[in-house]
Amino acid sequence: MSTTASPAGASGHARPVTIHDVQRAKEQGEKLVMLTAYDYLSAQILDEAGIPLILVGDSLGMVVLGYDSTVPVTVDEMLHHTRAVVRGAPHSLVVGDLPFGSYQEGPQQALATATRFLKEAGANAVKLEGGARMVEVVRHLTDAGIPVMGHLGLTPQSVNTLGGYRVQGQSEAAAEQLLTDAKAIEEAGAFSVVLEAVPSEVGRRVTEALSIPTIGIGAGPATDGQVLVWHDMLGLTTGRLPRFVKQYADLRGEIANAVKTYLHEVSDGEYPAAEHTYG
Ligand code: KIV
Repeated sequence: MSTTASPAGASGHARPVTIHDVQRAKEQGEKLVMLTAYDYLSAQILDEAGIPLILVGDSLGMVVLGYDSTVPVTVDEMLHHTRAVVRGAPHSLVVGDLPFGSYQEGPQQALATATRFLKEAGANAVKLEGGARMVEVVRHLTDAGIPVMGHLGLTPQSVNTLGGYRVQGQSEAAAEQLLTDAKAIEEAGAFSVVLEAVPSEVGRRVTEALSIPTIGIGAGPATDGQVLVWHDMLGLTTGRLPRFVKQYADLRGEIANAVKTYLHEVSDGEYPAAEHTYG
């Protein structure tokens, strides 16, 4: 994505990113980069690094709040964290994830929830999961002036019907359905769509079929952009990670070492030393 459309920080430009920049990136073949953030500090780091898109994902429930899925996440929890991210990211485009149960009743409920994300938290856009069945919702929100990012493929809020976190779109019929869903969302007015955990060929087919950008997470290299979860890419998450996660650091190890050193130094009376003490 062109630096004129990216946050300040890395290259010193200062214009906030808009959904028009996102569309322009697709048209110009520039890759879109998105990461999740859940608080002020991480948002500041992303904004200063020049990350154009920040998602306050409902993965919040699992990586920050310790729930075993995204299903229990509430609107109030999302708003609390979205506010913090918005305060830390004056240039990135901040997308707030509508949590499970806050939009599935239909367009009116979705509008009421999404309005809170923009008015009370300062988000620039919202994300919601689902394809053709969400067309009316997406149209209602975009008609009301709320930019919507779709989310197809593995949709974690439906983990109970999907039977687990599995790769989606593997049969030809499922891939066709995904294409139909993606086009329906685009036609309803979505400005972009996340594709999660689908074969890379499906990622490519959907990306070529749409005029809005696709942002992949486990959807191969052909999507218009990529998104990863902050904790996963920084090596903060434990346990088995999905194949698509690349860990760019081992922060869990770094933090654990620092904490252990502190523990030993305090226990041994080494800290605080003279230079940490007021005369
Ligand atoms: O909640 C989230 O973090 C997401 C990303 C995985 C796309 O939806």
